[in-house]
Amino acid sequence: MRSGRSKLYAKLTSSFLRKWWFVIFVSLVFVLLGAIIFIFFSQWVNLYINSELVLRNESMTFGWWRKPPVKPLMKVYVYNVTNADGFLNNGEKPVLNELGPYVYVQSWEKVNLAFNKNHTISFNQHKEFVFDRNQSVGDEDDLVVVPNIPMLSATSQSKHAARFLRLAMASIMDILKVKPFVEVSVHQLLWGYEDPLLKLAKDVVPKEQKLPYEEFGLMYGKNGTSRDKVTVFTGGSNIEQYGVIDRFNGNKSLLHWKTEQCNRLNGSDGSIFPPHITKNTTLFVYDKDLCRLLPLSYQKEVETANGVAGFRFTPPKDVFADVSTKPENECFCPGGPPCAPNGFFNVSLCQYDSPILLSFPHFYLADEKYRLAVEGVSPPVADKHEFFLDVQPQMGVSLRARARVQINLAVSQVVDIKQVATFPDIVFPIMWFEDGIDALPAEVTDMLNFATRVPPVAKACLSYGLFVVGGLLLLLAVICLVRNSGRQETLHLEGTSHYVKPDKTASGNGHSNGKSKTLETLNPSFLNGPDNPNTN
Ligand SMILES: *[C@@H]1O[C@H](CO)[C@@H](O)[C@H](O)[C@H]1NC(C)=O
Ligand SMILES: *[C@@H]1O[C@H](CO)[C@@H](O)[C@H](O)[C@H]1NC(C)=O
Ligand SMILES: *[C@@H]1O[C@H](CO)[C@@H](O)[C@H](O)[C@H]1NC(C)=O
Ligand SMILES: *[C@@H]1O[C@H](CO)[C@@H](O)[C@H](O)[C@H]1NC(C)=O
Ligand SMILES: *[C@@H]1O[C@H](CO)[C@@H](O)[C@H](O)[C@H]1NC(C)=O
Ligand SMILES: *[C@@H]1O[C@H](CO)[C@@H](O)[C@H](O)[C@H]1NC(C)=O
Ligand SMILES: *[C@@H]1O[C@H](CO)[C@@H](O)[C@H](O)[C@H]1NC(C)=O
Ligand SMILES: *[C@@H]1O[C@H](CO)[C@@H](O)[C@H](O)[C@H]1NC(C)=O
Ligand SMILES: *[C@@H]1O[C@H](CO)[C@@H](O)[C@H](O)[C@H]1NC(C)=O
Repeated sequence: MRSGRSKLYAKLTSSFLRKWWFVIFVSLVFVLLGAIIFIFFSQWVNLYINSELVLRNESMTFGWWRKPPVKPLMKVYVYNVTNADGFLNNGEKPVLNELGPYVYVQSWEKVNLAFNKNHTISFNQHKEFVFDRNQSVGDEDDLVVVPNIPMLSATSQSKHAARFLRLAMASIMDILKVKPFVEVSVHQLLWGYEDPLLKLAKDVVPKEQKLPYEEFGLMYGKNGTSRDKVTVFTGGSNIEQYGVIDRFNGNKSLLHWKTEQCNRLNGSDGSIFPPHITKNTTLFVYDKDLCRLLPLSYQKEVETANGVAGFRFTPPKDVFADVSTKPENECFCPGGPPCAPNGFFNVSLCQYDSPILLSFPHFYLADEKYRLAVEGVSPPVADKHEFFLDVQPQMGVSLRARARVQINLAVSQVVDIKQVATFPDIVFPIMWFEDGIDALPAEVTDMLNFATRVPPVAKACLSYGLFVVGGLLLLLAVICLVRNSGRQETLHLEGTSHYVKPDKTASGNGHSNGKSKTLETLNPSFLNGPDNPNTN
């Protein structure tokens, strides 16, 4: 007589039971797969996103990058000087009247695209501005009175020149009849008007110091294809450099500033950023007119059009802090001291030595005394005057933007030049503008929503689904094994008796093929036995 143990062993290894071991194995595989998916799914999704983002010819993101399917709006606000005479002759504070918005609808496209072998792509940026009268307060032909920037630049620059030069300048200005304030249309102020001083300079100044234009306009030459050749990384070699500028006109860095750190230009143009942005990420935007990288740090979570969630990034409050507040900014002051006051950025070196200081609109983040030095500039409000960018963190796509900058002229009093002798030292606001992107088209937001919402759900469904199925199978298999081994012992104890109480679960309910099979395999003698009144 075999021992119960060995019989049990025989049963456990019988072909029927091997099937149950197989089920246990499968269920464990399910659970394991669930765990693997739980742990690695996000990484796989990220890898997939990375590979899809890379700027490749004819990919979807490439199309959007090349020709953004948006119509960015540029809104311009001009400070109209209403008391030019009183200011110059009676020493009054300048009284300014903020006019705007004058709205231009833009279309952007990157042209002359060329893929380079080393995972970079070169292009020229094309921008077209079309005035939109409907959204504007007035016509482009509205006349405004603003400081004569070419003249005041020239006089301010001559401050440290020889006295006879200043006197010569005064008589030239007399002949040309230039005045410290000009009356021009909004269109002229932005897109250019002929300036007698620039025309003269173009004719007489030696070639190498020549200004490139004889017209003056704050946006002069910006309507059309830029001559600057920009080379950016496609992200093919390193996704952390996705959309980051490699070279600007062949240069890997700027030349104006004192340190390598400040001369960096490896930021993005603001449309796309390296993906997987966290709240700790600092984004860098390079703009030629800003003349430096603009850092942007996380501010808050926002919801943008069509329910796409994003992170809002803004320049840190001390981005334009003066040197005493933020010593790192010393590198942006090669001519100093004195350096730009708190809240201003001196772009003189990028603007043909014109004394242009950039700030945020209404002197946001600058000392209040500059705003109070003029009349008619209301206190800044973060909502209206802050620079910000909302990005979709997983993909690094800009969802909404308000690039807001004010242009100021830092005038120095020069008493030898009689036309401007009464023009005091002042930071004179000229205008501010807002470059804005609002609504991405539905096809983009749908894709972003899909890409951000589906993976977590898919991950949960897959991993928990596998856990549940695996767990149930395992439970079932274990229960059956336990029951069957239990019955086996009973059979063994009953010896040769071929009468076995039928299994309640097996008899009658017959819904499971597996189970009737179980019974059959378990105890063939039962089925083969003679009549059996209790089977039904
Ligand atoms: C700007 O100010 C000047 C001088 O005060 C005035 O003549 C002109 O009408 C103003 N422009 C607009 C558009 O209001
Ligand atoms: C992209 O591919 C198309 C055709 O496949 C070609 O005509 C076009 O020049 C390519 N563009 C670039 C930038 O290489
Ligand atoms: C990639 O190639 C382009 C053109 O061949 C070159 O201008 C650029 O400097 C290269 N960039 C890098 C990072 O090597
Ligand atoms: C910009 O250029 C386009 C086409 O050349 C022209 O239609 C448009 O009026 C220009 N915009 C401005 C503001 O001059
Ligand atoms: C401006 O508004 C007028 C009338 O409201 C409309 O006919 C015209 O199409 C609009 N123009 C633009 C550019 O939206
Ligand atoms: C770098 O930029 C400077 C001034 O912007 C320019 O003179 C120089 O030619 C550039 N270098 C190259 C390699 O293009
Ligand atoms: C730019 O270059 C500096 C050093 O050259 C590097 O530390 C930094 O990570 C780069 N930034 C980006 C956005 O690639
Ligand atoms: C952000 O930085 C802080 C402090 O440096 C750190 O504790 C936190 O874990 C970081 N968060 C992320 C998402 O990297
Ligand atoms: C701006 O920078 C230029 C060139 O470095 C310098 O000559 C000028 O004094 C600076 N202006 C101010 C207001 O700091």
